[in-house]
Amino acid sequence: ARVAVVVVAAGSGTRLQAAAPKAFVGIDAHSLLAHALRGVLAVPRAQVVVVAPAGREDQARTEAEASGAAARVSVVTGGATRQASVRAGLSAVWSDVEVVLVHDAARALTPPEVFTRVIAAVRAGAPGVLPVLPVVDTIKRVDADFVVTGVDRSDLARAQTPQGFARDILDAAYRSADREYTDDAALVAAAGHRIQTVPGDERAFKITGPADLERARALVAGAPM
Ligand code: CTP
Ligand code: MG
Repeated sequence: ARVAVVVVAAGSGTRLQAAAPKAFVGIDAHSLLAHALRGVLAVPRAQVVVVAPAGREDQARTEAEASGAAARVSVVTGGATRQASVRAGLSAVWSDVEVVLVHDAARALTPPEVFTRVIAAVRAGAPGVLPVLPVVDTIKRVDADFVVTGVDRSDLARAQTPQGFARDILDAAYRSADREYTDDAALVAAAGHRIQTVPGDERAFKITGPADLERARALVAGAPM
């Protein structure tokens, strides 16, 4: 079954506070998007759909060309929310694709093994697959300035991307979605499907604020592209 990976890169990166949209910020000589593409393109023969900010489509195409796999990379324009951007990406998925992964460009250092695990679980029959990591911090429910109660973390997990789906299920769930969901797994679960978990990876952390970019820079300095 053919695979497509929708890489959402259309956010502005408000919390990173950089001069450019987040996907085009440099980690080293290469942008978040370039690093993300390197991991994604390790999936053999997969179609890659990059969802770019309006006005940055050509820049995204240039990154795809630099990655050496431009023939299987499509670029589309994103929307005002992540969900709108995923929706735009889905409209560009080739007709013969049966497995779709949705991945945040902001998780730029996600290693190829995570893609492999997610694809394998979808191919084995899961309607939706979510990479997760355990919660290591003690979690509290708080009410303004005071602790209300502790929360048992043993049945909590941190959700990552790439999240993988049977293509028909993801398309149908997006057609029926009537509100904004926090991620694609939640949207597909709301359509009545069970989401399977697979192990995530610490390197798939999301570059959100300046400290995350520093962490990415340190990791890349230790293992250059
Ligand atoms: N994203 C997108 N389109 C949007 C919003 C987000 O494609 N309208 C993408 C981002 O480019 C990112 C991923 O969704 O790869 C996760 O979003 P987030 O980390 O929140 O990125 P931003 O929305 O860009 O950052 P911020 O929320 O700080 O503005
Ligand atoms: Mg955001």
